Amino acid sequence: MAKHAVLAGGSGFLGQALAVALVRRDYTVTILTRTPRAASGGIEYLEWDGATAGEWARSLEGAAAVVNLTGRSVNCIHSPENRREILASRLNSVRVLNEAISRCAQPPLALVQAGSLAIYGDAGDRVCDEQAPHARDFSADVCEQWEAAFASGRTPQTRRVLLRVGLALGRGGGALQPLAKLARCFLGGTVGHGRQYLSWLHVADLNEMFIQAMERPEIMGAYNATGPAPVTNAEFMRELRHAVGRPWSPPAPEWAVRFGAHWIMRTDADLALTGRRCVPRRFLEQGFQFRHAELAAALHDLLSRS
Ligand SMILES: NC(=O)c1ccc[n+]([C@@H]2O[C@H](COP(=O)([O-])OP(=O)(O)OC[C@H]3O[C@@H](n4cnc5c(N)ncnc54)[C@H](OP(=O)(O)O)[C@@H]3O)[C@@H](O)[C@H]2O)c1
Repeated sequence: MAKHAVLAGGSGFLGQALAVALVRRDYTVTILTRTPRAASGGIEYLEWDGATAGEWARSLEGAAAVVNLTGRSVNCIHSPENRREILASRLNSVRVLNEAISRCAQPPLALVQAGSLAIYGDAGDRVCDEQAPHARDFSADVCEQWEAAFASGRTPQTRRVLLRVGLALGRGGGALQPLAKLARCFLGGTVGHGRQYLSWLHVADLNEMFIQAMERPEIMGAYNATGPAPVTNAEFMRELRHAVGRPWSPPAPEWAVRFGAHWIMRTDADLALTGRRCVPRRFLEQGFQFRHAELAAALHDLLSRS
């Protein structure tokens, strides 16, 4: 019998990529979304609001795994209203999934929660493994509350894993396509001082991490889900320029990034001006094999056909 996976908030960038990878491994997939669409390609969509119990909870019965990818995007201006929604969408979905699993007659075998490396804050060149200290800023505070809500769930028959996800590079969403577009327009210069680190990974490796977290009983607790070779912003932008055939672009000083982020891109400049140098220590210790460990090759793979 096919194994069943439920992806809460799985209609977005990471969820769509993971759903396709799961179908290839013979899973049937249910995506919980606020705007359901017709089933296709082994993926069905069920309506939920990310906050209250409903019919959707039946899809959890007997599932091999539930993965929670719900969260209002942080790629926006961090106004008080957006901050409230960024936090509430994460805490509500964690709480309601915990409640739904605790009511299952046949609970899912695993619950995998997406978190973020932003918990380590703007960490300079300090190497951050899973034991690194947590920062004190808005994004890190969101991550801490998100993780605390996840940790408070009581689902004894369901193994629980939290993946602190890095900057996922893929087609069809996420940060890479807009960055590549800017780079093609000669706007791919070093951002700010350029020494802030980007902890990146190819979405195919992230899919594999999610699937291992779903399937391997020895995987439990919090993991950095990122690549083995974080790079500085200056290195990242240089490789990106090469990948799109624009070997040089003027650097973007901090004031220009702040202006452009706020008034043109309508987002928070700190997403580009700060960074962290994270390593996937626990995955490496457990023998995880990366398919895309090198940035130049990963960018070539993702951008050569777009
Ligand atoms: N992409 C990355 O590189 C990255 C890095 C670190 C962490 N993460 C985390 O991983 C998770 C998935 O990332 P993603 O890139 O796939 O994000 P995404 O494309 O923005 O998808 C997130 C999903 O969350 C749901 N959602 C948004 N706001 C909601 C709200 N107010 N209430 C209920 N549901 C809401 C949406 O589903 P519907 O609109 O269909 O309901 C959406 O499809 C997020 O929690 C993100 O913070 C991602």
